[in-house]
Amino acid sequence: RNLMKIAADLLAHYDVHARRLPWRAPPGVNAADPYRVWLSEVMLQQTTVAAVGPYFAKFTERWPTVEALAAAEDADVMAAWAGLGYYARARNLLACARAVANDHGGVFPDTEGGLRSLPGVGAYTAAAVAAIAFGRRAVVVDANVERVVARLFAIDTPLPAARPAIRVAANGITPDARAGDFAQAMMDLGATICTPRNPACGICPLRSDCAALLTADPAAFPVKAAK
Ligand code: ADE
Repeated sequence: RNLMKIAADLLAHYDVHARRLPWRAPPGVNAADPYRVWLSEVMLQQTTVAAVGPYFAKFTERWPTVEALAAAEDADVMAAWAGLGYYARARNLLACARAVANDHGGVFPDTEGGLRSLPGVGAYTAAAVAAIAFGRRAVVVDANVERVVARLFAIDTPLPAARPAIRVAANGITPDARAGDFAQAMMDLGATICTPRNPACGICPLRSDCAALLTADPAAFPVKAAK
């Protein structure tokens, strides 16, 4: 298989079909505002793109920069967060904004390792912000990407044991250039075409590269551990 063909095919599709989400840079602009990328990634943990939209608009209007958010009253941020759930995320959000403002001069670290040192920023968020905001090559694997990769390579080890193999496979198809677009293109593919049930394989830009499509049931990947 030509692993770089996968990224090339996916990016060509993304150039035409990328979802115009509010935290994304306009098409052709290669790096988005780290504050907006970080805020969106925190909000999108355990919450859908559709539900996040109005909250993202509210937060960025009221607190347009990380320094503005850092200076907010805890109670105001908690009240603005109400409805998004998982309130520990809102507490971590403020702690992280204050760390960036106080310890980093209001500038987000631009590497995965630097981002990882911020409160509440785990491996996924650090990789996503490094790639999307800073164009760094990073392996960005959320549940959508996990499914896409498990299908592309027909990885039949059950989850969660399959995760290391999925990361290795994801690393192998991640390009050096356009890392942020690639990460978001994988997320879009998982959200819109390579869906958990009834994937739209007939219109998938990666159909010629997909090992699962050669099996009886492409949607059976990733394999869930028996309960
Ligand atoms: N889910 C998490 N992060 C996302 C992003 N940047 N674009 C689309 N869906 C996402």
